[in-house]
Amino acid sequence: MTERLGMHTLTEGRGLLFGGDYNPEQWPEKVWAEDAELMRAAGVNLVTVGVFSWARLEPEPGKHDFGWLDRVLDLMAANGIAVDLATPTASPPPWLGHRWPETLPVDEGGHRLWYGSRNQFCPSSPVYRERALAIAGALADRYAGHPALALWHVGNELGEVCHCDVSAEAFRGWLRARYGDLGTLNEAWGTTFWSQGYGDWAEVLPPRRAPYIVNPSQRLDWWRFSSDALLGHFRAERDVLRARTPDVPVTTNFMGFFKRADYWSFAAEEDVVANDWYPEPGDPLSPARTALTHDLMRGLAGGRPWLLMEQSTSAVNWRPHNLPKPPGQLRLESLQAVARGADGLCYFQWRASRFGAERFHAAMVPHAGADTRLHAEVRAHGQELRGLAALAGEPVPARVAMVFGWENWWALEERGRPSDRLNAVDQLLAYYVPFFERGVSVDVVPPSADLSSYALVVVPNLFLVADGDAEALSAYVRGGGVLVVGPFSGVVDPRGHVRTGPFPAPLREVLGASGEEWLPAPDDRPVRCRWSGGAEFTASTWTELLRAEGAEVVAEFTEGDLAGRPAVTRHRAGPGPGEGPGEGPGEGVAWYVGTMPEPAALGALAARVLADAGVEGAVPELPPGVEAVRRGEVLFLLNHGATTVRVPLQEAAEDLLTAAPAQDAVTLAPRAVAALRRLP
Ligand code: GAL
Ligand code: ZN
Repeated sequence: MTERLGMHTLTEGRGLLFGGDYNPEQWPEKVWAEDAELMRAAGVNLVTVGVFSWARLEPEPGKHDFGWLDRVLDLMAANGIAVDLATPTASPPPWLGHRWPETLPVDEGGHRLWYGSRNQFCPSSPVYRERALAIAGALADRYAGHPALALWHVGNELGEVCHCDVSAEAFRGWLRARYGDLGTLNEAWGTTFWSQGYGDWAEVLPPRRAPYIVNPSQRLDWWRFSSDALLGHFRAERDVLRARTPDVPVTTNFMGFFKRADYWSFAAEEDVVANDWYPEPGDPLSPARTALTHDLMRGLAGGRPWLLMEQSTSAVNWRPHNLPKPPGQLRLESLQAVARGADGLCYFQWRASRFGAERFHAAMVPHAGADTRLHAEVRAHGQELRGLAALAGEPVPARVAMVFGWENWWALEERGRPSDRLNAVDQLLAYYVPFFERGVSVDVVPPSADLSSYALVVVPNLFLVADGDAEALSAYVRGGGVLVVGPFSGVVDPRGHVRTGPFPAPLREVLGASGEEWLPAPDDRPVRCRWSGGAEFTASTWTELLRAEGAEVVAEFTEGDLAGRPAVTRHRAGPGPGEGPGEGPGEGVAWYVGTMPEPAALGALAARVLADAGVEGAVPELPPGVEAVRRGEVLFLLNHGATTVRVPLQEAAEDLLTAAPAQDAVTLAPRAVAALRRLP
C-alpha cells in the first residue's frame, strides 16, 4: 500500500464517506436530477459509477459512447459528490464472448460459462486483457482531471478462475518461474505418488475434473496461480490508470474472507482497501463474524482506514430466503464498521433496479420511492455521519494479533485430510469470538507479520507453515510474547509435504510439547476434558495424542484412550542462548491447544492468555450482546442483543451521536450505539 495516496486522499475536506453504487444507465435521464437532489439531502458524498456499463460505453468493439457518462460525472461534480469511477471490466459486453469465445471462462469439468449474467472472462486471456485495458485507458483518458473523479474502482469483486487451455499455458509459465525445471516441479508435487510423473511441460495441466482426489500440491499451486492471475490483471488495469491519473487512488472491492484471492498480496498493490460485506441477518454469530471481517480489512490496510464499499440497507436477494434488516439495523451495522476503522460507508446500491437479476435487492432509494421508512433511515444515517467527521483517519489500537493466511487456508482444506470439520475461517472465528465478547481489539495479520508490537498472538490454525514464519513465532515468544497455537498446526511445508517427526515439528521446541497422532472424534460424542484447576469442559471433533516436553499441562482429556493425556499445554519459554537475561520478566509463554474446545472453554482460555499477556477489554464489564471497541479517543458501544442493557463506565464521557453526557454508565436499547468521548 502506498502512503502517498490512500483513504486520507478521499476524506480530506469530506469527512467520512457516504454513498453507494450508482447505476444511472438503468434510468432515463430525468430521474438523474432527482437522484442528485436526494443524494444531497442524504449527505451522499461518494458514488461508484460505471461498474457494469461496458456494453453501454463500448457498444461495438472500439466504438465509444461517453456522452451519457460525461453528463453523469458533470452532474455529480455540480452537486459536490465525488465519483469512484469503475473500469467496467467485470462484465464484458456480449460482443466479446461472441466474437472471441476463448475469452469466456471454462470450469473444472471443461464447460464454458457464457454471457447473460456477469463475470464471464478468463483472467489469463490476452484478448480479454487487451480489450479490458483499452476501455480502462479510454476512460482514464477521457476523465483525467475531471473534478468529480476521486477514486478508481478496478473491475468488481475480482474472483474468477479458469481451467481453459489458455489458462493452462499461463499456469505452466507460472510454474516454470517458480520451479525452473520439470524435475523440481515433479519433486514439489510429489509425483512419484500415483504415477503422476511429468516428462514434458505440455502434459502439465490445471487441476481438472478427475476420477478421484487430485494431487494436493498441484492444487495448492493452482490456488496460488489463480490468485496471481487475478492480481496480474488488477495490476495491469491499475498501471493503465496510474499512468494517466497518478494522483487518483486505485482500489478494487474485496469480499471479506474470499478464498480464491490472497488479499494480503492484493492489498499490497492498491491505494485503498475496500470491502463488500453483507452480514447474514439470521446468524447469531453475525456481529462477531462482521467484526472479524472488518478487522481483517483494517489489517489488510496496514492499520490504516478502509472503505466499506458495499453493504445493504436491508435484504439482499441472493440467499434462498432474504430476511430484511429491522429498523435501526442499517445504522448499527454501518457504525460497527466506523468503530472498526472504516472511513467510508457505502451501499449497493443507490436506487433499486426495476429489472435484471437484482430487482429484489434493497437499495438506498427503494422501489416505493424516497418517502419511505427505509430512505428516511438512510438520510438520517448520512446526516449523522457528518457529525463523526473527526474520526476520519483515527486508528483502532490492538495489542492482540490473530494470524490468518490464504496459503494455509488453501492447503488446509484440500480433500484427503483427517477431517473436513476443521476449517480455516471457522477456526479463526471460534478463537475470535471470546475476544469480541470481552471487548478486546484484535488485529488480523499475515503469518509473515512483524509481531513485535503485540502482547498476545493467536494462531488458530497454521497447518502450512514456512520455516521462516515458524522461526518468527518462536522468536516472538523468546522475546517475551504470549503465543497460542491451535490444533493441526505446523503440519506441512509450503509444498504441502508433511514435516516428519513429532508435530508440530517447527514449533515443538517453543511449545515444549509435541504430538504423534491426529485423532478426529465421532461427531455425536463430546470429548470430555478438565482444566488443571478441576473445572470440566467439553471439546469436540478433533483430538491429538500429545506429550508435554517441558510445558505445563493446563487441561487434559478425561475419557477413553486419551484419558490423562494433555489437551492444552502452556510453556514458559525464556530467551534463547545469547538472547539476553533468562527467567523472570521478559519471559514468553507458548500455549498449544490439541482439540476444539466448546465456546465457553475457549472463553476461559482467552481469559487465561489475556492475563498472561496483561491485556484488558475496552470496558471492565460488558453485558452479553454488546460490542465495545475504541477508535482513537472514542469508545464505541454497540448493542447487538435483544434487550436493553446498562454498561458501566470508568470515566465521564459525552456521546458524540446524541451530544448527551454519560456519567458512570450508559443504557443501550437493542440496536442502539454510543460513541463516547472522554470528557477532559
Ligand atoms: C456484490 C456485487 C454487487 C451486487 C451486490 C448484491 O457482490 O459487487 O454488484 O451484486 O453484491 O448484494
Ligand atoms: Zn482461461
